[in-house]
Amino acid sequence: MATGVFALLSVCVCLCIGFNLDTTFPLLKTGRDGSLFGLSVALHQDLKTDAYLLLIGAPRDKAEPNVPANRTGGVYSCPITADQSEYLNLSENLIEDMWLGVSVASQGRPGGRVLVTTTGWL
Ligand SMILES: *[C@@H]1O[C@H](CO)[C@@H](O)[C@H](O)[C@H]1NC(C)=O
Ligand SMILES: *[C@@H]1O[C@H](CO)[C@@H](O)[C@H](O)[C@H]1NC(C)=O
Repeated sequence: MATGVFALLSVCVCLCIGFNLDTTFPLLKTGRDGSLFGLSVALHQDLKTDAYLLLIGAPRDKAEPNVPANRTGGVYSCPITADQSEYLNLSENLIEDMWLGVSVASQGRPGGRVLVTTTGWL
């Protein structure tokens, strides 16, 4: 019985290992108000620069000025530095309320593919 309880406690201790967030030098990335910037995030490694970057979805983001829609959503490439995030021009077929960037995923390996989803047609 005591061995069983000890084994159970050991499993619980193993499952509860935590980590600290860096509260001293946090890296903040922000998007436009109401854009839901950060709803989806994927870590990706760029093959050209060998650098890691965050792909961040903002599915309620305003459309770019030359797009015939008001709110399309978008995806940003954000370096893991204080540098500016960059809007990714993923398609010329952007439509109103398409929720571009509602989810973002990286294949994980260097130079791997990236999946960006929308609720509309791309
Ligand atoms: C964009 O917003 C304006 C003002 O609300 C509206 O008249 C127009 O129809 C909207 N455009 C689209 C593509 O929904
Ligand atoms: C996005 O790229 C397409 C060509 O692929 C171009 O026609 C369009 O103007 C670009 N949009 C923006 C916002 O730069």
